[in-house]
Amino acid sequence: SIGGAVAEAKATAAAEPLLLNAVRGEDVERPPVWLMRQAGRYMKSYQIICEKYPSFRERSENVDLVVEISLQPWNVFKPDGVILFSDILTPLSGMNIPFDIVKGKGPIIFDPIRSAAQVDQVREFVPEDSVPYVGEALTILRKEVDNKAAVLGFVGAPFTLASYVVEGGSSKHFSKIKRLAFSEPKVLHSLLQKFTSSMARYVQYQADNGAQAVQIFDSWATELSPVDFEEFSLPYLKQIVDTVKKTHPELPIILYASGSGGLLERLALTGVDVVSLDWTVDMAEGRKRLGANMAVQGNVDPGVLFGSKEFITERINDTVRKAGRGKHILNLGHGIVVGTPEENVAHFFEVAKGIRY
Ligand code: CP3
Repeated sequence: SIGGAVAEAKATAAAEPLLLNAVRGEDVERPPVWLMRQAGRYMKSYQIICEKYPSFRERSENVDLVVEISLQPWNVFKPDGVILFSDILTPLSGMNIPFDIVKGKGPIIFDPIRSAAQVDQVREFVPEDSVPYVGEALTILRKEVDNKAAVLGFVGAPFTLASYVVEGGSSKHFSKIKRLAFSEPKVLHSLLQKFTSSMARYVQYQADNGAQAVQIFDSWATELSPVDFEEFSLPYLKQIVDTVKKTHPELPIILYASGSGGLLERLALTGVDVVSLDWTVDMAEGRKRLGANMAVQGNVDPGVLFGSKEFITERINDTVRKAGRGKHILNLGHGIVVGTPEENVAHFFEVAKGIRY
């Protein structure tokens, strides 16, 4: 009947991904689950692609490859979130900061930025011009995943991006960015401001092209003392959130900052919808400190995936019990580690999807 067809169409339209319902605080039957770095080298299928396309930049900047790699974990594990295969550094070349990601070495910035004159050379990011493949890939992913999971976008936080471009790559002591922060703060602030407006625009672009939630990675916030976090990261994160909320008030924004146990209350001040916890903080205590309105994600030590299946099950149940019902996305406290047995990842998802509150 026509009435039936209309009702069915309405029901289909209303079938929002579990992850979005959970973030909004709706009554869900279990926590949604996805894993940071769920696409990557622990998967045999990814390693096969790496053999054929050895350049990370090619794998992450070609629409077909981005879609194929993003869908690899989706095809095997059916997570509740499908994150775009890309990198936080991907926007850099469009900002006039040449870089590469080299096997065994990690990210390399060819001309590290340490002076006001160099900051002046950094261009504002125009995603539609510089990374059209990201928009195309997100659009295809939305079609492929078809609301059975949420398609997730992401950006790097200004401070974390600045760490890479000032240090010239990964760093142990962060002495170059700290020299800049503590002796020429104005130079660092002008760089942070460029990343802030650029990443706000990038989040909007991702949402306009199909991302249903976006995660901000402040992986190196852990290097900042609370007073320095308040100066060099918090205001910029807040500015990104404020800017995005103006145009996309419904878009859930997740904030991950590793080593952030000492910063949790400050992370909440950014205005994000979800705080992603690492494993140095107890989930029940994190919940209490963040308050009932904040959704939480994460918390399981990625190293748990090297344990026995029984151990993995135990730790999932522990986190879920401590997080309580609703407003919880089950995830790891950081990305999956290279070498993690795929069958343990499969077990993680199986247990996670079998949970009922
Ligand atoms: O989660 C996902 O599956 C989406 C893909 C994703 C990648 N990088 C792919 C990638 C995401 C979300 C990122 C974010 C990212 N990139 C972060 C924030 C998350 C975190 O771990 O804190 C950071 C700090 C980076 C910078 C970066 N890119 C590093 C430190 C490395 C590792 C270098 C190395 O050789 O191990 C990369 C490269 C990278 N990005 C890889 C992957 C799967 C590994 C290299 C490869 O696959 O060839």
